[in-house]
Amino acid sequence: MYNEEISKIKKELETVFNDINTKEALENIRQEYMGKNGSITELGSKIREVANEDKKAFGMSVNELKNIFNENYEKISEALEEQEINEKLNKEAIDVSLPGTKIEVGSAHPLERIIESLENLLMSMGYDVVEGPEVEKDLYNFELLNLPKGHPARDAQDTFYIKGDEYLLRSQTSPVQVREMLRCEGKEPIRIICPGKTYRRDEDDATHSHEFTQMEGLLVDKNITLGDLKGTFEEVAKMLFGESRETRFRPSFYPFTEPSVEMDISCFNCNGKGCSLCKGTGWITVGGAGMVNPIVLKNCGYDPSIWNGFAFGFGLERLAMLKYGISDIRTFYVNHDIRTLKEFDRREY
Ligand code: DAH
Repeated sequence: MYNEEISKIKKELETVFNDINTKEALENIRQEYMGKNGSITELGSKIREVANEDKKAFGMSVNELKNIFNENYEKISEALEEQEINEKLNKEAIDVSLPGTKIEVGSAHPLERIIESLENLLMSMGYDVVEGPEVEKDLYNFELLNLPKGHPARDAQDTFYIKGDEYLLRSQTSPVQVREMLRCEGKEPIRIICPGKTYRRDEDDATHSHEFTQMEGLLVDKNITLGDLKGTFEEVAKMLFGESRETRFRPSFYPFTEPSVEMDISCFNCNGKGCSLCKGTGWITVGGAGMVNPIVLKNCGYDPSIWNGFAFGFGLERLAMLKYGISDIRTFYVNHDIRTLKEFDRREY
């Protein structure tokens, strides 16, 4: 019984697995033979109709079919699995000889360059970098720096006040000096620099901006002289503008320093001979400085009979404009084109 059916399926199984090369095709064949309505499954269910004495032989035949099927199925399934893994490996293989994807490297903003090189130099001389708030008290920005209300020097720093006259946008980084001295309570020497944003009510043009950047320096210790300041400035000048720079101090006035000086460097454009950049003088002013006024020391808790020191302030846009030949201060705030920034790579000394 059913012998014909059995040998038909057996015959089919010899070829049905040929050319199976996808999992889907294999699954279809499984359904066709071993699924709920598959031909081997259906054949197996016919056992009820088989005469008792033939049941054993019939069962064995059906089992043989199942075994043949399963053997083939396993073999092909494994092969397909392996093939899939190999394909995946091939696809994901890394070809180390391929050229890499080029990553565009950024370029530092000129102000950032100036800040970083000043920080590196002055930190190597023992200075710490500190920060102060941009919204500052009048007390720290002016009062304790020997600029009491009504002092004419306040006019030079036309200031943004915030609600009343107690708070303002700092017009200089000098209040950080005050904060640092107060923090140290007149007890220890101080060596700090403070780069940061400053604000003045200026009309914006090629050389003025209502927001700009300064770097303040303060050194408080014992027996400090103007010579120490000069030596420090000389290092800064040479680092920023080349070894052959010469430096000079010109008398000046700041309420927080006494004496006060303007710091000049010999013109790097004409080497001191006189040109349009230095307006024929051979010198370029790059910052203000002086010996810390004893009044300021006292205001901030330092006994001027024991302590003294110097302070300096640089306008960082000015330094960057000189160093990188930038003629318009607004360049710093609007132009962040990477190609422009890369230009500055070539202008390092
Ligand atoms: N704060 C001054 C300004 O904004 C710059 C300055 C001058 C700072 C002399 C100093 C200094 O510390 O000693 O114009």
